[in-house]
Amino acid sequence: MAILDIEILGSGILREKAAPVESVTDDLRRLVRDMTDTMYDAEGIGLAAPQVGVSQRILVVDVADEEETRHMHALVNPVIVEFGKKTEKASEGCLSIPGIEESVTRPATVVVEALTPNGDPVRIEADGLLARALQHEVDHLDGILFIDRLSPLKRSILLRKWRKSRSGNAR
Ligand code: NI
Repeated sequence: MAILDIEILGSGILREKAAPVESVTDDLRRLVRDMTDTMYDAEGIGLAAPQVGVSQRILVVDVADEEETRHMHALVNPVIVEFGKKTEKASEGCLSIPGIEESVTRPATVVVEALTPNGDPVRIEADGLLARALQHEVDHLDGILFIDRLSPLKRSILLRKWRKSRSGNAR
């Protein structure tokens, strides 16, 4: 098991559009395992490859549904093929912006198509927290962070709080 370093807001790779994976290989499966270990170690519910310094379209999520059943997904080249019309507002955070949380409005349901790390096609119809986590992580693959989904005013307040917390850590 390997715990990878997580890129923090300000790192350029978080703002890049990640490249599609050309072929699933043992190296890719190792990366997925390391990303999963890293996500659990950081007590996150999702992690995208750019967050561990790899600009490729790979994500892992693990969230519990309303029956407390956990759903672990490792997705390669995920595409959101349908967004539900209904939206939902709920609190989000990000392992790349530790200590910051804010409510984000997103479509309540999505359908995602991807490949598993073994190269099999998979289609996920998600609602609730899983739908939110999938949208958050697919955003990472496009260089988008959840703070970009906020109003400019909310974002600037959060960024001020973020900078203050970081300068506090430096002392
Ligand atoms: Ni995130």
